[in-house]
Amino acid sequence: MKEQLEKIYADASKDIENAVTSGDIDEIKNKYLSRKGELNSIKKNLKDLSVEDKKNVGSLANEIAQKLEAAVAQKFETIYRKELDEKLQKEKIDITMPGKFIPQGKVHPLTQTTNEIVDIFHSLGFSLVGNQNSPEVETEYYNFDMLNIPKDHPARDVQDTFYCNLASNVVLRSQTSGAQIHVMEEQKPPIRIIAPGRVYRNEDVNARKNNFFHQIEGLLVDKNITMGDLKGVLNEFIRLYFGESRQTRFRSSFFPFTEPSVEIDVQCIMCGGKGCRVCSGTGWLEILGAGMVDVNVLKGVGIDPEVYSGFAFGMGVERLAMLKYAVDDIRQFFNNDARFLNQF
Ligand code: DAH
Repeated sequence: MKEQLEKIYADASKDIENAVTSGDIDEIKNKYLSRKGELNSIKKNLKDLSVEDKKNVGSLANEIAQKLEAAVAQKFETIYRKELDEKLQKEKIDITMPGKFIPQGKVHPLTQTTNEIVDIFHSLGFSLVGNQNSPEVETEYYNFDMLNIPKDHPARDVQDTFYCNLASNVVLRSQTSGAQIHVMEEQKPPIRIIAPGRVYRNEDVNARKNNFFHQIEGLLVDKNITMGDLKGVLNEFIRLYFGESRQTRFRSSFFPFTEPSVEIDVQCIMCGGKGCRVCSGTGWLEILGAGMVDVNVLKGVGIDPEVYSGFAFGMGVERLAMLKYAVDDIRQFFNNDARFLNQF
């Protein structure tokens, strides 16, 4: 039995030496050291021996078992280290590899500009008009009649205004000014609102003009409102919007729904005021029309012009964006060219 044990020890030691993988180690443990392993089967036969032999062979078997267990543990440690190293090597992440590109949507520059302008007017105490008071499909009543625009005014001509075939008096609004009427029909002064939205005009499309564009309408009606208030609010808006000084000019103008009327021009930054195709060679770009609300408009909605006065304005969102970001063609906003849009 002693020889058998010696042989087991020798075989097992050789197997341990030759083991390469952790799988080999498992096999060795199974073969020699497990409950059904070779060492145990010898121990089972001890009962047939004399007391003396039992003691000798038994302690030898235990000694061998201990030695083998230690050897197996040591070998396993080495193999495990090696296998771990290999695994780490194989699964190493190369952080210099380019990542996966996940395209990200962005807010359209005109929406960004509108949001910015709305924020500025919020800070000046104006509130936003709901969509129901600023519809894109309007009747002539709101788009023209109530704004003191005479029946024979050229702006009503189909060459300027898109008429809908729903009914003869329905138009795609040519200006956001109709929102003023909706609001004043509903609300009595003090009124301080803005209404952003899309407007449509039957224009020849070029670098300056598109057949739809965006406006932001503003209206303030209260007691003792003067041209000084109009100028103060709009100058403050320009200062906040451009965030830097820009040359501007107030020009007197005419709109049927304001008296007196003005327009504000901002120096063209595309040419630095020298004159280019965007500013039609003038060096200036008109950004808004404004004026003191006409007495006829106030009377039309039942506001007493002896008690109240107000000012209104309508600004072009595309123009304001072009002047801030030096966009030299209005069509860029509508081409959906990602190379352009991604710059904002
Ligand atoms: N609605 C005018 C336009 O589209 C702009 C405008 C001028 C709006 C004067 C106003 C205003 O509210 O008072 O050309």
